[in-house]
Amino acid sequence: MILSSCRYCAGPSLNWRIDLRNGRIRAHSRVASEARASAGASDWGGCGFDSRGSGRCGEEGLRREGAAMGAADKDVVEEILLGDLNEVGEIADSGEWASRHSVDHGVLCDVIKSLSGFELVDSKELSRESWFLEREGEEYVENGSAEMQVFLAVPPEGITLPDLKAKVGDKLLNVGQKNAMKNGWIVMQKPLMKRKVAEAEDIVRSQLVSIKDGQEVSPDVIKDLKKRNLIARKLWKGYEVCKGPKYALKRSKPATDVTREMLQTGAWKEQEFKAYNFEALGFPISGGYLHPLLKVRAQFRKIFLNMGFEEMPTNNFVESSFWNFDVLFQPQQHPARDSHDTFFLKTPATTVELPEDYLQRVKTMHEVGGHGSIGYGYDWKREEAEKNLLRTHTTAVSSRMLYKLAQEKFVPKRYYSIDRVFRNEAVDRTHLAEFHQIEGVVCDRGLTLGDLIGVLNEFFGRLGIKKLRFKPAYNPYTEPSMEIFSYHEQLKKWVEIGNSGMFRPEMLLPMGLPPDVNVIAWGLSLERPTMILYNIDNIRDLFGHKVDLEKVKSNPICRLGI
Ligand code: PHE
Repeated sequence: MILSSCRYCAGPSLNWRIDLRNGRIRAHSRVASEARASAGASDWGGCGFDSRGSGRCGEEGLRREGAAMGAADKDVVEEILLGDLNEVGEIADSGEWASRHSVDHGVLCDVIKSLSGFELVDSKELSRESWFLEREGEEYVENGSAEMQVFLAVPPEGITLPDLKAKVGDKLLNVGQKNAMKNGWIVMQKPLMKRKVAEAEDIVRSQLVSIKDGQEVSPDVIKDLKKRNLIARKLWKGYEVCKGPKYALKRSKPATDVTREMLQTGAWKEQEFKAYNFEALGFPISGGYLHPLLKVRAQFRKIFLNMGFEEMPTNNFVESSFWNFDVLFQPQQHPARDSHDTFFLKTPATTVELPEDYLQRVKTMHEVGGHGSIGYGYDWKREEAEKNLLRTHTTAVSSRMLYKLAQEKFVPKRYYSIDRVFRNEAVDRTHLAEFHQIEGVVCDRGLTLGDLIGVLNEFFGRLGIKKLRFKPAYNPYTEPSMEIFSYHEQLKKWVEIGNSGMFRPEMLLPMGLPPDVNVIAWGLSLERPTMILYNIDNIRDLFGHKVDLEKVKSNPICRLGI
């Protein structure tokens, strides 16, 4: 019975074959191509040689070798095993059995585990310390020992050392040359290395094959091979096997699941089912995972709460231009309102309701000013203010909150928000059309720029950012306005981390806040510090449809310097 053709022999040879008379599998061992090509080819390389596979293996070998054999091999091993059990009733040692039948022990273990699951056999685990081949030992079994490889690389007419080195490589030459000379196989007749004998016997390889097959080897041999680091003692695992309650010469495949058809036809009553394996590991349970942005948000939130700030309700992405721009004293021709920067809504295109008296005060402030301001001096249009949009900043929420506060008896307040905003921008490595803003607002009587600088130092200090610098800037709604820079220790330069200012009287007075109340505020993005903390240089790896979910599942908590 041909299972596959031999990869190592020329012509249509058999790699694995079963002798149908005694059920033994005969296997070729790998032949070193070098050895085949060389004169005086070794006696262990020819086809038909029975290397008897690998009789023993540790856990690692078991998996590796098991994987190398196909399903067909497993079927054959299963057939022989079940047949043998029928004759002898019990297999005392899977290692010995595998060796005797020239079967890969890894494959045999897989077969035993599978048959046990279906109760065709009962098995008991065995384990013992045993000698295993190290990687180099395995290589020698495959290609011949170092001394044999060097010997075969020396042609009868001789070879110079550099040529020999080029042929076999440094490492093999070192070990192989020494031993081949010691064995009396080769000799140095300057300038050539020459053969001393026509043929040599690779005893080391035979010894290694014996160990691999689990045969007894003399203590002296063990000592030599161990000294050469070709073998090591490891834990061997195998099985003792006997017939199980559902033993049969051939397995009938029991069903694993009840199907709709079985229920409809009533076939389930006769159907044999595979027993549950309560020992099997289930699928890992996947729970929810926090995205890095959520983790960093939680830390910012904690800093605000520790500093006595209250969270503003940011649960509306859709806002009217009135709250997003007009109340912030942002003129209606301001470029930020341009559709290049703002997503305007088609439906519903306009807001339903605006506070009328306040609207009038905002209109007046824009057109002619008041309270000492000269306003912008243009014709303010209600239709422009009514246009719905996706909020471009969370300052829209701050304005709603301050207006609300102005309608009650004034008490000082500290507000914060962390939520999503939208801008109609070209997407690149650092920009998305939607991102998150962090905003802090403090309102009290008699606040000054010194208070703003003090609060910013406190806030960023709690993030672990100690060195701040401020640069004059412009916002339509703050005066003075300051960009916030921090010293980046790794980049060794000052980087912009936020924007801030004192809300203008043109914004606060129409709301109805007392004239001595000042409001200081600042804003920054949530993405920027998160990207720095998580070492992400492309915002699309952090947010949006291109995010790698695996990274979301496995990301650590990166602490701000709270
Ligand atoms: N709204 C500003 C922005 O979008 C941030 C800011 C908030 C500036 C509060 C000053 C005061 O960049």
